[in-house]
Amino acid sequence: MTTSLPRQDRIRRAIELLRNDTTDKFDEVVDFEAHEFTDPVLAQEERDFIFGRVPSIIAHSTEIGKPYDFITIAMPRNNIIAVRQKDGSVRTFVNLCRHRGAMLETQEKGRCRFFSCPYHRWSYDPDGKLRTITRDNTFGEVDRTEHGLVEIPCEERHGFIWVVDNAHADIDVASWLGPEMDAILAGYQLDKLVSFRAAGFDEPTNWKIMQDAFLDGYHIQYAHPNTAGKVIHTNVMAFEDFGRHLRFIAPRKTIDRWLEEDPGDTPLDDYVTETHFLLPNSTLLRQPDHFQLLTFRPHPTDPTKSRMEQRLMVPPLEESGMEEERWNRRWEKNWDILLAVLHNEDFPLLRNSQTGMGSADAGKMLLGRNETANQLFRRETKKLLAEGRAAAK
Ligand code: FES
Ligand SMILES: [Fe+2]
Repeated sequence: MTTSLPRQDRIRRAIELLRNDTTDKFDEVVDFEAHEFTDPVLAQEERDFIFGRVPSIIAHSTEIGKPYDFITIAMPRNNIIAVRQKDGSVRTFVNLCRHRGAMLETQEKGRCRFFSCPYHRWSYDPDGKLRTITRDNTFGEVDRTEHGLVEIPCEERHGFIWVVDNAHADIDVASWLGPEMDAILAGYQLDKLVSFRAAGFDEPTNWKIMQDAFLDGYHIQYAHPNTAGKVIHTNVMAFEDFGRHLRFIAPRKTIDRWLEEDPGDTPLDDYVTETHFLLPNSTLLRQPDHFQLLTFRPHPTDPTKSRMEQRLMVPPLEESGMEEERWNRRWEKNWDILLAVLHNEDFPLLRNSQTGMGSADAGKMLLGRNETANQLFRRETKKLLAEGRAAAK
């Protein structure tokens, strides 16, 4: 594995791998067991020691672009509301009324100058302050400053909204990303793009099975013979391991014209897809003219379920030089293609993997040396769990 070569050199390295019919490789074959995808105790540890300790992305900034825009999200540990404040910052709160615990906001997204509880109509300001106690002449004395919404640490960086799903934690996205990945994301100027569309899907599959499939360059021609397999080379990945996060270049089939012919100084960006894994749960795909983000979150209680989110970040209409209709059509089509591959090809396969993992006698399974990104995902989640267990002692 090589780090920090300029992009054109990294692409040329991918061509070399392709010429030699090989890929960057992890040190060893590693085995694992089915219970990792079904065990409720491990699932609780993952929620607490991973999602309760480190930042993960909940949305692109443009999804709540204007003051009082909000979204609600079921994080592994908390149901949360993220709301754009009057001053342009974003704050996140536990989506729960401090009276008797009703879910405060039931819509997935909207705009709201205050939040009003459906049960007894207490209300809260967008900054979480308790605003109204209905019939307060009968309710009794309450220190309102003590009963605002519970705040969850949140930060906007590189065009994304990140949270640590734990009211008692701090957040520092730059230090979590580390200097290399922080600089890489800064270079992409993702804050200048717009989220064309974002959608979430509840799947009966453990989040790690889901995440693994979207770090996997080995399955493409086998699971996607008529779609992605026609476009991208299988099992050819030029890796960079940044310790926690990683990225890899996978050549598209159009690159084959440069197998015989020397590309010289020709820029080769259009011939590759670059995948970034942002620990703990996101795959950011850099395509020649846009980005896709795939995010995988454990279910709050059930290890055999998860929620996947897909979002498409594209240059804004005003800067695209395109008519609105063409712009919409173009990204619409892109969205539909990705959605179809996921839903028709990956999801059914992964649901069946989860069913298989329920087998009492599954036996040991293997991750190969060629499954480098999966190896790193596994290595890093294990590290986080070990750190969390040590800190909890
Ligand atoms: S539970 Fe919200 S007002 Fe009573
Ligand atoms: Fe796939």
